[in-house]
Amino acid sequence: MSSDSLGEIPEYILARLRELREQIQHHDQLYYLKDRPEISDIAYDQLFQELQSLEAEFPSLLTPDSPTQRVGGAPLEQFQKAKHEFPLLSLDSHVDVADVRAFDQRVLRELDIDSVEYTVEPKYDGLSVELIYEEGTFIRGSTRGDGIVGEDITVNLRTIRALPLQLHQPEAIPTKVIVRSEVYIPLEDFHVLNTRLIQDGEEPFANPRNAAAGSLRQLDSRLTADRPLTLTCYDLKTQTNERPATHWEAVTKLGEWGLPIPQHRQRCQSIDEVIAFHTDIELQRNQLPFEIDGIVVKVDRYVWQQALGEKSRSPRWAMAFKFPPRQEITKVDQIIVSVGRTGALTPIAILNPVEIGGVTVSRASLHNIDEVVRKDIRPGDTIKVERAGDVIPDVVERIDVPGEQRAEPFTPPTQCPVCQSHTIQEGPILFCTGQTVCSAQLKGALELYVSKGAMNIEGLGRKTVAQLVDEGLVQDLADFYSLTKDQLFTLEGFAEKSATQLLEGIEKSKQAPLPRFIFGLGIRNVGAHIAQVLAKHFGSLDNLRTAPKESLELIHEIGPEIASSVESFFQEPKNLSVLQRMEELGVTVEIIDTSPLSADQPLSGKIFVLTGTLEGFSRQEAKQQIETLGGRVTSSVSKQTDYVVAGSEPGSKLDKAQALGVTVLNEEGFGNLLNE
Ligand code: IVH
Repeated sequence: MSSDSLGEIPEYILARLRELREQIQHHDQLYYLKDRPEISDIAYDQLFQELQSLEAEFPSLLTPDSPTQRVGGAPLEQFQKAKHEFPLLSLDSHVDVADVRAFDQRVLRELDIDSVEYTVEPKYDGLSVELIYEEGTFIRGSTRGDGIVGEDITVNLRTIRALPLQLHQPEAIPTKVIVRSEVYIPLEDFHVLNTRLIQDGEEPFANPRNAAAGSLRQLDSRLTADRPLTLTCYDLKTQTNERPATHWEAVTKLGEWGLPIPQHRQRCQSIDEVIAFHTDIELQRNQLPFEIDGIVVKVDRYVWQQALGEKSRSPRWAMAFKFPPRQEITKVDQIIVSVGRTGALTPIAILNPVEIGGVTVSRASLHNIDEVVRKDIRPGDTIKVERAGDVIPDVVERIDVPGEQRAEPFTPPTQCPVCQSHTIQEGPILFCTGQTVCSAQLKGALELYVSKGAMNIEGLGRKTVAQLVDEGLVQDLADFYSLTKDQLFTLEGFAEKSATQLLEGIEKSKQAPLPRFIFGLGIRNVGAHIAQVLAKHFGSLDNLRTAPKESLELIHEIGPEIASSVESFFQEPKNLSVLQRMEELGVTVEIIDTSPLSADQPLSGKIFVLTGTLEGFSRQEAKQQIETLGGRVTSSVSKQTDYVVAGSEPGSKLDKAQALGVTVLNEEGFGNLLNE
């Protein structure tokens, strides 16, 4: 029998339902907050199942705050935005005791008092979230986001057992309570989670913080429910300021209402006590069951907090007193080199796994080739490795072990480990020059080529580029030009019309304007403007291809870095063969007349300033058109300006043009001028 109307539900059912929810909440608290369960798992499961079946029988009784709702629900398409009631500030942080004393001095000076009381708490290394309770019921929770607007993750937060869905003593609680808290994964649970992920053939998390972030921002809350998240609450705000006089008391209240609060907090009468707490907790750090990266020091009295005020991103009444990063000693097994999206080669030290603060570290970044050489790190070396916060661990230095046999010094690779194109060093960084062929750089390179400022191929956005690469249909720039309709049909979301449009867009791009084509090749250091300069100077791709570095360097605006990027791009045979295939597939790159006569272009010598929004052109396009016709675009209006092109909502440049008597063109006038 199923009933869905409250009126028909007998009182004894309602009473049992209340009782079950209260009991489950009580046992959740004992288990998750106090770590001392009073009933067996089986007895707990029985209560839970009884509640589930009652709710199944009387669906109208199911409310979002029921403990059964902690298992998560159907996946979301995306998170809704959630504006915070009060901005979620971050903290200024310091490591040095001298800075902490300076903070204290400033506080005393500004408050004009001799001593101030602080509350100190561990700085939990997790994610800060805002929780909102109305009439004692948890109604919404959100991530920090940019501090002003976050993401609504209410369903995910509900799955966290330590988070009470109902506060105790709701009658004594302000109508609306806003709580700041940190969501994290305890170390032991983190290890269990990672072991499980590895067993399931999935990638383990690098550290507990990443694991917490990855778990909390799941669109599928059932997955969140399966992750060992917990939280601690460290701040109370109410809209009517109905809160105690001090932070200490406010947090105590949070605890009384059933919210988890930091266990190791302390009230300090002086900065010396703060420093002593820091020292003490740092000593306990390795024994704590969760990760902390320092302590948070807060002026305790709210009136004083208000008097000190806030900066735009952080309060002036609090600071993070961080611990120095943790270091361990281990050995380097080997040095591998990975290639990023921009073609930068990053050396990575593969280590004998070592535990640093509860996290196993088996690789560390060596940042760039220069650093490996400078620190002289070689396979087999004993090194010091450091883990700071959530960043990838760093190799700090080599430790000299007398008598230790050393391998040969690391030699920077002359070829890209992914595509075997030759490498080029720019500053401390080594780059792969095979921009058009290297699969590590492929998506970025293709996106640039099809983008608005380059070939502007309609229908080829980021998503389609990714599909084409993932399906193996495009492996270099030339492959765009051999795509067939049948191939496109194999991609998700492609039908007759979209495939035809895309192929038409690609076909159109076969007539390639020289500057856009040069820009689209993605030669390092060659942006849209430099591409223009090169196009104007060389007039054809062939001239540019064969230009020696020395002649490139003679051109105004081209320095040695650009010159060597251009030269090495055209020296790489793989790039040349892609260009040749493009030509064979019908791509013809424009040839510009660079003879002196062409100085006589329609707009040569004319100076333009653009202001406001044009309907038919982006800024970039308008600029390109002017430059193609020999004109120049500058950013400020002066007597030298020939034309100011004013779109909608023009800025002060228009007023200035009128004041100086400079010709002002609207969009139509500008279009006419270009067509003339
Ligand atoms: S107080 C205005 N207390 O640290 C008050 N923050 O770097 C700002 N955090 O975003 C926060 N434990 O995510 C505070 N006991 C604690 C904390 C804590 C961890 C995090 C929090 C904050 C970040 C600031």
